[in-house]
Amino acid sequence: MRVLGIETSCDETGIAIFDDQQGILAHQLYSQIKLHADYGGVVPELASRDHIRKTLPLIEAALQQAGCRSEDLDGIAYTAGPGLVGALLVGATIARSLAMAWNKPAVPVHHMEGHLLAPMLEERVPEFPFIALLVSGGHTLLVRVDGIGQYQILGESIDDAAGEAFDKTAKLLGLDYPGGAALARLAEQGTAGRFVFPRPMTDRPGLDFSFSGLKTFAANTIHSQGSDDQTRADIAHAFQSAVVDTLAIKCKRALQETGLKRLVIAGGVSANRELRSQLAELMHKLGGEVFYPRPEFCTDNGAMIAFAGMQRLKAGHTTGLEIVVQPRWNLETLAPVTL
Ligand code: KG4
Ligand code: ZN
Repeated sequence: MRVLGIETSCDETGIAIFDDQQGILAHQLYSQIKLHADYGGVVPELASRDHIRKTLPLIEAALQQAGCRSEDLDGIAYTAGPGLVGALLVGATIARSLAMAWNKPAVPVHHMEGHLLAPMLEERVPEFPFIALLVSGGHTLLVRVDGIGQYQILGESIDDAAGEAFDKTAKLLGLDYPGGAALARLAEQGTAGRFVFPRPMTDRPGLDFSFSGLKTFAANTIHSQGSDDQTRADIAHAFQSAVVDTLAIKCKRALQETGLKRLVIAGGVSANRELRSQLAELMHKLGGEVFYPRPEFCTDNGAMIAFAGMQRLKAGHTTGLEIVVQPRWNLETLAPVTL
């Protein structure tokens, strides 16, 4: 089976073609980061308009890269939520229109299920059941995964998502939007231990997260200590350590409470090297294994949507001609996939 994947939920247009025998045949990505940088965040209307400009040319480029024609496709998968309503509508409308014109089935995909299954695009594939830590710009979720579509949310952020906290703190440090990766680079120049930030909600039971206080802590530290280059790097270091430690503590708790030994991390923040190395160390100590996507599939992309959509197409989960998107969509409500 060969599926075209279309991702337009936020500020990246991601198009890919996945074949279950040959793997990823094409992968095209256009990032709108430059478009939004002047505003310090994503401007939804500009995002929608740019998806309109980029989606069809990228689909053409993907078909060319894969050396295939529309007749060679068995279906179209598109992100139907969660995300920005206008941006989602562009992808959904194009996907549905092409599906009708080409007489192919189309399937809506949950963006976070795409992230969650992205490690399955790699050679070493996690077996079910496992714990997934999903850390993106919009979500922080700890999920028990018993199969595709069998998700139980064990914990989530009660305020800012991990990526959002990275981006807001990066902005305070004078870094351009989205500053997560730049903050991580700055942290490498920082001195460990000069500042110690709290590990929010780790002193009480439970698996929820709260990251908004860390941004305030960073603002107060800048206010009292100034913002020379070394101080900025030291703050970045202290902030990153606090987020990574907090995520690791909650992952350990989730693994111990469930007795599971496999951990999957995905979403934009899973590209963070400090997070990867700390979780690798944790799983080594626990005698378990950690799985993550290659860095380019940690952030938004079309390959994860093509892959997740393929699983659902194989199970017959197509929908009618109507164009429906869900800006808010609980992962737990997805139908289980039984192949
Ligand atoms: O999954 P993603 O591409 O988009 C959403 O679905 O939200 O995640 C983007 C988020 C941004 O907040 C970005 O700053 C963060 O992932 N991010 C990172 C790193 N690379 C991307 N955060 C920390 N360290 C990184 N290396
Ligand atoms: Zn995402």
